[in-house]
Amino acid sequence: MDKQHGDKGLAGKRVVITAGPTREPIDPVRYISNHSSGKMGYALAVAARDAGAKVVLVSGPVNLESPAGVDVRAVITAEDMLKAASLAVDEGCDLFVATAAVADYRPENCASDKIKKSSETMALPLTRNPDTLATIAGRSDAPFTVGFAAETSDVAHYAKDKMQRKNLRMIVANDVSAPGLGFNSDDNAVTVFWSGGQETIGPDTKKRIASRLIELIGERLKQE
Ligand code: CTP
Ligand code: CA
Repeated sequence: MDKQHGDKGLAGKRVVITAGPTREPIDPVRYISNHSSGKMGYALAVAARDAGAKVVLVSGPVNLESPAGVDVRAVITAEDMLKAASLAVDEGCDLFVATAAVADYRPENCASDKIKKSSETMALPLTRNPDTLATIAGRSDAPFTVGFAAETSDVAHYAKDKMQRKNLRMIVANDVSAPGLGFNSDDNAVTVFWSGGQETIGPDTKKRIASRLIELIGERLKQE
């Protein structure tokens, strides 16, 4: 183990990260999605790579360059994301980090032809998407699993509740109502919770937040 990598606790570890939004098709030309840029997930992938990990990045559609030395697997929908993430975990995974902003619902049916407008109002039946993070954390061979929680109020309360419900080792809470931070921004501020501790990181660049997060995760992982 060289010194640079040994210090960060991820040398030789296999890491799978989800990032970006998902897109849920309505018809051949339309979809449901969100404003996630993928920047936090990509910054984490780079930080994990620099800490000596072998990184698979399961990415929804983003406008970002694939980081060198990271195995990027492009997906579109939430269902694709679950499949790609499960496969990557099957291949071997010590640490799973879900930063993706997955669409919670998808249209029940994707119309095969472009939908024509008719009446003044229109209802679109939606159905729940699978939860990649909860599925991976619920496996009998679950890796050390870290989730993100995007909240606009009661951030600590909702984040800790998600950590418990989804059976996570750590959760990174993100107040997406803060102006200039979070979704689609270069900056962020987060509070990380784990059983028996918490730490607030930022406001700072997503790059610096990612490297502190990887350090913290490495420390917790080492104590397992
Ligand atoms: N997540 C996931 N698959 C989903 C929904 C969420 O993997 N279908 C992951 C996200 O990547 C994130 C965490 O679960 O790491 C929390 O996502 P969030 O949207 O904050 O929470 P939800 O569980 O979807 O609950 P809600 O949106 O109702 O607050
Ligand atoms: Ca959600």
